[in-house]
Parts: sequence; C-alpha cells; structure tokens
Amino acid sequence: MCGIVGYIGSKSVIPILINGLSKLEYRGYDSAGVAVYKGGEIETYKAQGKLQKLKDLLGTNGNGDNANKIGIGHIRWATHGAPTEINAHPHVSCCKKIAIVHNGIIENFKELKEELTKKGHVFVSQTDTETIAHLIEENLKTHPDIFDAVRHSLKKLEGAYAIGVVYKDNPDILIAARKNAPLIVGIGENENYIGSDVPAILEYTKNVIYLDDSEIAEIKADDVKIYDFDGNVIKKKIECVPWEPVALSKMGYKHFMLKEIHEQPDVIRQTLSERLISSDLPLQLNEVKLTKESLKKLNRIQIIACGTSLHAAMAGKYLIEEFIGIPVDIEASSEYIYKRTISSANSLVIGVSQSGETADTITAIRQAKAEGAHALVITNRVDSTMAREADSLLPINAGIEVSVAATKSYTAQLIAFYLLAIYLAEIKEALPAKDIIKFKEQLFKLPQQVEIILGNKTEIKRCARKFHNAKDFIFIARGINFPAALEGALKLKEISYINATGYPAGELKHGPIAMLEDTIPVLAILMPGLVYEKVLSNSEEAKARDAKMIALTSSNDKHLESVFDFIIKIPDIDEIFSPILTTIPLQLLAYYIAEFLGKDVDQPRNLAKSVTVE
Ligand code: F6R
Repeated sequence: MCGIVGYIGSKSVIPILINGLSKLEYRGYDSAGVAVYKGGEIETYKAQGKLQKLKDLLGTNGNGDNANKIGIGHIRWATHGAPTEINAHPHVSCCKKIAIVHNGIIENFKELKEELTKKGHVFVSQTDTETIAHLIEENLKTHPDIFDAVRHSLKKLEGAYAIGVVYKDNPDILIAARKNAPLIVGIGENENYIGSDVPAILEYTKNVIYLDDSEIAEIKADDVKIYDFDGNVIKKKIECVPWEPVALSKMGYKHFMLKEIHEQPDVIRQTLSERLISSDLPLQLNEVKLTKESLKKLNRIQIIACGTSLHAAMAGKYLIEEFIGIPVDIEASSEYIYKRTISSANSLVIGVSQSGETADTITAIRQAKAEGAHALVITNRVDSTMAREADSLLPINAGIEVSVAATKSYTAQLIAFYLLAIYLAEIKEALPAKDIIKFKEQLFKLPQQVEIILGNKTEIKRCARKFHNAKDFIFIARGINFPAALEGALKLKEISYINATGYPAGELKHGPIAMLEDTIPVLAILMPGLVYEKVLSNSEEAKARDAKMIALTSSNDKHLESVFDFIIKIPDIDEIFSPILTTIPLQLLAYYIAEFLGKDVDQPRNLAKSVTVE
C-alpha cells in the first residue's frame, strides 16, 4: 500500500525513481510523484492517476535532468485526502526545502497540524503526510542538523510510517525511517537506494538492509548508518535477496495474473521441495518449532489472516481439525485485534499472509504473542516483518507475486496447510501411517493434475464468454470446498467488479435463494465425496428457480447435463485434496471474464497489493 523509492549516487535519478515506482505499482496506483535535487532546489513533479501520467509529465523517457543525484518517489493509495495531484506525495514544508514521501497513517496528525498551524505553518493538502514535512521544518529551528531534526520529529509521530526525506541544504544525505511499515535500504557501489519493497531496487542491487521498527537510516552515496530514534548506532546485516529481476517480467503473458496462474504447478513443486522428500519419510518442516511436548499442551489453535489468505486459513482449519482433531478458530485479523485477546502459552496462533506486511495481521500476531502464544507464520516473504517476528515459519516459496489478485500464493498457502496438517498428524501420531503415505502420494501428483487443468483453458474461456455479462454471480460449495467458493467469488469481484458471493450450498435456501432468477449464474463446486449428493440437490433447488447453472466437477455423472447449463471438468481427486484443483478454474474464470469486460486485470480499481495500514 503506497510505494516509496529513493536514490542517492551519481546516476541520473529520475529514471531510477520512475523504474522503481513502476515495480511498485501493484502497491497503489491513484497518483504518483517525485522530488529531486535540481539546480540547487528541491523540485517536485506530481500527477493524479496511474504512473504513466507522471511519466508523461516528465517527458517521454522520464529522463529529466541528468545532473540530479538524489531524489525520492512515491506511488499512492489514498488514505487521507482524495487521490488528487495536491494530495500526491512528495509533500514539502513551507520553505520548500524539505520533501517527504510516506507510507502509513499518522494517527495524531490532526493535533500536530493544529499545533503547527498555530506556529504559522501553512498546509496545502488534506494528507496526514504533509504534517511530517512541517514538523521537521519546525524542529530544524532547534536541531539545525537535518538528520537530528528528522529523528526528533519521529518521536512525536503516532501511527505507522515508512518515510524518505530529502533536504535542499544538505543534498548529500537521504534519510529513511520506519515504524510499522516496511522499508529497505539497497546497497550499491557508491550509490544507495531506499524502497518499500525489494522489486523497487532489484534491478540495481540485491544487497539490502531491512530496517526494523523505530530505526532511522542516514544514507550517503558511499555510506549507510542506521540508528535508533535516540541516536544510538545499530549494527545491521546486509542481506542478499534471492530473486532475479526476471521474476518481475510478464514473460510473454498478457498479464501478470495469467503468468502467475500458469506458474502454479512449479509453485506447488517448490513449496513441497525439501519438505516432502518421499511418501515414507517424515515431513521436514525445519522452521516449525513445535515439539511433541508443546503439542500435548496445546488447547487452542487460532488462524488469523485477511482476504484470500483468510480463505486459505479456512481450508487450513478443515484440514487440521480433520487430521489431528484439535479445534481451530479462524478469524479475520481486523476483527481479532479489537476485542479481548484470548490466547495463552497453550495456544498456537497461525498467521497467514502472502506479503507478511499486512498491518492487521501483524498486530494480531503481536497481540497473541504478548499473551504467550506460539506464533507460526505462513508467508511468501521470509524477509517480511511477520516472518522476522514469528516463533515458527512456514515459507510458501511462491516467488514474487505482482498481480494484485492473489493466485499462486493462495495455492501455495493451501499446500503449506496440507504440509502442516500432515506434519502435526505425524508428530501427534494422530493418523494411521498408511493414510499419511496416501496423502503424501497425492501431494506428489498435484502439479501434474494442475497442468491438466491449465491445458484445458479453452472450456473455461468459453464459460467466461457465455456469462461475462452477468451482473451477479453466486458460488456454492460445501465442506473443504466452501473456502474455494469464497475465493472464486472474491477473485471475480476483485478484477471484474461483478457482484459475486460465495455461500455454503446448504445455506442457499435460508435466504439467498430469494435472489435467484434466470439472469444469475450459480456455480456449484461438485466434487465426488462426502457432500457431492448434497451440493447436487442444492443445485437442483437453484435450477428450479431458473438460475443459470455451472458445475465445476470431476464427475462423469450423465444426470449433471440435465441440471447444468455448463460443466467445467477437472481431474478426479480425493475430495480432501480437491480445493487445489477447484481453485485454478475459478481463477481462470475470473481472469477471462475481466478480460472480456476490458478491465485492468493486474491493477483493479481501489485495491492495493500490500495493505500496510489498519
Ligand atoms: C485478494 C488479495 C487480498 C489479500 C489480503 C491479504 O486477491 O490479494 O485479499 O489476500 O489483502 O494480504 P496478505 O496475504 O499479503 O496478508
């Protein structure tokens, strides 16, 4: 949510900032801006709308003035103030000597603004961010060194922030700081960078310092020093990120979402690799630190997550309860954090997050840990705040996910839950050995089965063509596939803006059935197993109300043809593993519908990839 990039060195700065922002576009995209040191002044350029608008403003190649050597850039996802040019970052102080970019929310900005206005500062935007620029300017009166002025200003801020600051009177220093919002420093040769995420700087350096909360960096072209907010030096490790810049290209696909959907067979292999070695050997989840003794004491498992990750969590609950018989509660992180935290030393709290930076989930994990719970984090980002604060870690190895709509990370999260549930069953000896072997054999088969689905895309595209004009869409399922129905609905509404809802199929007649008529498609996930007949009869009830019926099934039952207007076939699979296969056609269905409607698939309106504010 919002992207920050900054550079200090001897290269032309604007192309570096624009390139960095283009790699962060997935974090927010309602306005963008840069501030650079140019001709002895701080010049800012801002534009409302997508990054292209800023590029147009800066000239066709975004080259600007080649003499610039320090600058900051920002891509915004509006929180305070509409997405206008005035509210776009960077924001400057009254004297226009200080420019700042900010990601997060300053909770006490109203009080600070009032105080600063009384002291004569004039605000031009509606943002909380502008307050920081004025506060620094005010503090310069008593702390003439810009670094000290920034450091003292930070002590007055409440809320979450990652910031980058440049100052006209000292263009040899770039200042960055963070509290509850991610920020990294990229280390180059006689040049250094800041970014709110690795993609912003990956093309230039793989060496990074991850700032922790309440740390401030003094960055020069040839030197980086990190301090706490009291001014004490902190020794930090320079880490090498394991990605190649090619991970950020579409590789010939029209959209990142389509590319990422196609990566899923490899992602599954990757998530399984080194953990599932053979079906007759125990799983190796080396960073999960739960022992037989600690598991014996467990009386509560809670899974907390948001959005798509919450759907993975719902499937996780089903699996853990089924395999080890311990009750599991799932809760949206944003709900978990505003009530009494009932966790204890005998609780296991599992946080699920692609980014590892979702503010609500971070807060929820911290609250649970404060009550003594063991925090296990399932994430795609081992370099994230959540991963670094976790007691146990289960990385999902999905690779960088650029498309705002999560696809491959969801599948990888599901795989992580299969691994975890089987692993816990092994430790607790909760399942017969032959069942565990059978489950592991099934896991090995998954990538190939997903490849079969990806090879049959034409049918799914045909289904999308037939139903893309629907105004409402209903997804129904039961049991372990219910989260897949919710996820299918979420994918569709996110990228096509069609009103899509997922229901447990048995709930249809308790209200939603009233909506049904012949304009509404109802997609039923109908996998042979425990609930097949039940979902079928719920589908017949919908059919009787004239709904357009779509089946997603592996069944060859001829009777289905009399109930369903469209049948999407997938490979046969044990019901408990079927969510991996049922999810993929739903991702493709959403993708093709959005494509037919001409929507911006990778950057849907109003959304941001990483939700770093509560
Ligand atoms: C949907 C989507 C979001 C995220 C949610 C949580 O496609 O991507 O719903 O799942 O914002 O994000 P993470 O998983 O990064 O915590």
